[in-house]
Amino acid sequence: MSNEWWRHAVIYQVYIRSFADGDGDGLGDIEGIRSRLPYLAELGIDAIWINPWYPSPQADAGYDVITYTDIEPRFGSMAEAEAMITEAHAAGIRVLLDIVPNHSSHLHPWFQAALAAGPGSPERDRFIFRDGAGERGELPPNDWPSCFGGSAWTRVTEPDGVPGQWYLHLFAPEQPDRNWHHPDTHADYEAALRFWFDRGVDGFRIDVAHSLFKADGLPDLGDVVYEAHETRPHPFWDPDDVHEVYRSWRRIADSYDPPRVFVAEAWVPQPARLARYVRADELHTTFNFDFLRSPWAAPHLRGVIDATIAEHALVGAPPTWVLSNHDVARHVSRFARVQQTHAQHQLKDLDAEVEVDPDLGYRRARAALLLMAALPGSCYVYQGEELGLPEVEDLPPEVLQDPSWARSGFTDPGRDGCRVPVPWTGVDAKAWLPQPEWFAQFAVEVEERDRSSMLWLYRDALRIRRDTTGFGDGPFEWLPTDSDVLAFRRGAGVICVVNFGARLQPLPPHRAVLLASSPLVDGRLAGDAAVWLSE
Ligand code: GLC
Repeated sequence: MSNEWWRHAVIYQVYIRSFADGDGDGLGDIEGIRSRLPYLAELGIDAIWINPWYPSPQADAGYDVITYTDIEPRFGSMAEAEAMITEAHAAGIRVLLDIVPNHSSHLHPWFQAALAAGPGSPERDRFIFRDGAGERGELPPNDWPSCFGGSAWTRVTEPDGVPGQWYLHLFAPEQPDRNWHHPDTHADYEAALRFWFDRGVDGFRIDVAHSLFKADGLPDLGDVVYEAHETRPHPFWDPDDVHEVYRSWRRIADSYDPPRVFVAEAWVPQPARLARYVRADELHTTFNFDFLRSPWAAPHLRGVIDATIAEHALVGAPPTWVLSNHDVARHVSRFARVQQTHAQHQLKDLDAEVEVDPDLGYRRARAALLLMAALPGSCYVYQGEELGLPEVEDLPPEVLQDPSWARSGFTDPGRDGCRVPVPWTGVDAKAWLPQPEWFAQFAVEVEERDRSSMLWLYRDALRIRRDTTGFGDGPFEWLPTDSDVLAFRRGAGVICVVNFGARLQPLPPHRAVLLASSPLVDGRLAGDAAVWLSE
């Protein structure tokens, strides 16, 4: 396997709590992953990325980490984790973990020490504590909102029992932000990277990679927005200082043999700013959320693809492509609606009033796979998308666990609808989020028996992608088409055609059909379908 495997890899996201349950308690775990490695190998992926599996009170499904050098007991043990890494490697699967540098759990020993030590102490300086505004400090220090709703500040009770300072949490109150101006923060995370690299882990996904540093003086946000057209600096997203951190992390990754890799979760609205994260001496890759957020529409997707390729080419990094993850509504359900021109990627954005056409969403999702897997670079598959799982849009309110639900005053159902456990044989009465009855028809066991299933389309596509020269990183060229069709040539004469319209479309000259998302009709491509051809 080449050192630069990440330039063309297919990486499968294992959302551990919902992947496979080895001990029968309804929560996925490491034993579950181990037992499904043969399934993952057969799917044809190159690597897995496992969401946080460290000790955590699970206030935000594990993104509230107490320590990186251990395993959450509900997920298993360190011995199991090490065995899993070894077994994955033996199956030809690389392993990426998830690191969360912007914040820790409030149960992190340093945060507990900060609470106990009081205002002005060196312990408090490892986080972002400030006195409140207002006459008696009764107001938050500034107007920053938490991503989960409400203020980004929580007031603490001081050791002497009186209401005291406030601390910053861009996410839940159980996730205090770290102070990246403090050398201990750097040392703590560097130790975490080395701990896992020493255990053979191949790389990390970096959570909220586009924050870490907050603007000096913590100025109010006011009406500054985080969108491509904004020219004023944002006080907590995409600060220039993060790049020095990633340069130092890259040096650590490069000191290993083979070198370890990073992928940034950086929500950055300007492609040119995003590309800065993947300069040659920084991170290897970054998620492409513009692609994920694009409506299913030829002109819009073409624009995203062009911008992505152009900006990545400037810095020499491979583009990546992703359709779904554990934070957004599953794309089968997004594509089952009339496509808006604006981003519509969370359950709260999916209009319950509009007509929903599940068959259309499913067709489009099949075509979207062929589009994504043919684009240059690497791509991500979120567990369950290979089964065509839809979003569970009607989870009963009493089972919802995403902090967004309570913090939005019970208006935003949050992200639980895409986190319902994967069905392996049928529905599991113990699953930590209830699987609806209709999940059974998407079970792995059912789809394995049906050669026309989504699962087999993924298997076929990934096998062909791996075995055929021209896919992955490399040349890309648009072919002339109607406005509701995208067609492009990859190296070595591989062509992908996607029909977003309703009319049947003729195919360009070709020697063979490699794979089609829907059967061809008299040699032509149906609407909402895609095909791979060889010239
Ligand atoms: C990232 C994670 C998300 C988490 C948040 C806070 O966006 O993907 O699940 O809630 O960071 O850590």
